[in-house]
Amino acid sequence: MSDPLRLGIAGLGTVGTGVVRIVRQKANLLAERAGRPVTISAVSARTRDKDRGVSLATYDWEDDPVALARRDDVDVLVELMGGSDGPAKAATEAAIAAGKDVVTANKAMLAHHGQALAEAAEAAGRVIRFEAAVAGGIPVVKALTEGLAGNEMTRVMGVMNGTCNYILTRMQSAGLPYETVFEEAQQLGYLEADPQLDVGGIDAGHKLALLAAIAYGTRVDFEAVELEGIERITIEDIRHAADMGFRIKLLGVAQMTGRGLEQRMSPCLVPAESPLGQLEGGTNMVVLEGDQVEQIVLRGPGAGEGPTASAVMGDVMDIARGARLPTFGTPAAALAAAAPARTATPAPYYLRMALDDKPGALAKVAAELGEAGVSIDRMRQYRHDDSTAPVLIVTHKTTRGAIESALAAMERLDVVAGTPVALRIEQV
Ligand code: NAP
Ligand code: HSE
Repeated sequence: MSDPLRLGIAGLGTVGTGVVRIVRQKANLLAERAGRPVTISAVSARTRDKDRGVSLATYDWEDDPVALARRDDVDVLVELMGGSDGPAKAATEAAIAAGKDVVTANKAMLAHHGQALAEAAEAAGRVIRFEAAVAGGIPVVKALTEGLAGNEMTRVMGVMNGTCNYILTRMQSAGLPYETVFEEAQQLGYLEADPQLDVGGIDAGHKLALLAAIAYGTRVDFEAVELEGIERITIEDIRHAADMGFRIKLLGVAQMTGRGLEQRMSPCLVPAESPLGQLEGGTNMVVLEGDQVEQIVLRGPGAGEGPTASAVMGDVMDIARGARLPTFGTPAAALAAAAPARTATPAPYYLRMALDDKPGALAKVAAELGEAGVSIDRMRQYRHDDSTAPVLIVTHKTTRGAIESALAAMERLDVVAGTPVALRIEQV
């Protein structure tokens, strides 16, 4: 059997301890599959004397992850600390400079520094692998980089933040408001330390930016992702969308258009009977569309110790077997800087508003929509006890610009109470 592949693991939290557990418990299986043993030389975390539920006694300890990355007995740095900068980036850079490969689960670091890190790694003849950074246990990076390499990708979509999908589906099933379910998710430990990363769409936006780079051969451009979180989604919208045959999802969409690269992470309506519409709880789903393959749907756990460590180990095993690919599939030096699309692809929209229930009110709204060039497909007015009537409108395909000008005009009308809500309907 060949020489062992020796890991240095920086970060011993949820994912790091999961990786240690797999390396310890499945040593024989890993060695058989890779044709060489996979071992751990040293580990690092903030606090040495913490009971992590797994024995670390046989590994050297490093207080400094950079020192860990530079050790002579480490072939691969497994970076599982997190954070876009700080020790994660420093250790990754040190590993590459010292001639080591890197496996990471850190989408924030790659969304912000992926291009520079990939260039440095490839110039040094090293690889950076990041399967666990996108959709946890779903091997979507591998599917896109390898299995679909013969396709021109036409669209990449995904529900890639399990916490948001848990909140939205729990609101629907229990009929609870956003604030109550948010509290519940916090108590269950689902939310990141900074909840804005989840509910603000940032975490999922990082993941989308990484997939877009692979799919379209472009430099990672997280700044160009149009981001909107789920904080403004009300139980009324969830109920009304369901009445019209839709579910609300925090949906990421990346597509190359004649207007440039479109990257959106925002709450959208999807048909209730579609695979995305049926996705419940904290599960993730990625939909990949290519010119040859048509559509592929991948569904699975997006987080948690086992699923995320499983993805990390997939990368480790590739390195152990000698598989070497550019970080984003295309060599980093050849990745193009894509122009971001300034406007989104036209789509139907769902509109909800509270209208004074009096003669001519609906006609005024319809006139403003007509004036903005927005055509109504379906509409519904609900019974009500007070003086304003909840009205829902589903439009035909239109532009975001036309919807925005219609909404601005509606807000000026004396028959519309409050601010109307508009959500895009994604055709999936
Ligand atoms: P975590 O449980 O918070 O663990 C982080 C680990 O990093 C801890 O062991 C911590 O040490 C260590 N650490 C933090 N700062 C450090 C520093 N300055 N120097 C040395 N060690 C430091 O995080 P996690 O959930 O395992 O996530 C790790 C990575 O995986 C992140 O990039 C995350 O986004 C990604 N990820 C996680 C999941 C998931 O389900 N958890 C899913 C997909 C991707 P102490 O233990 O001593 O505090
Ligand atoms: N916070 C993420 C989620 C898991 O809820 O999906 C880590 O990517």
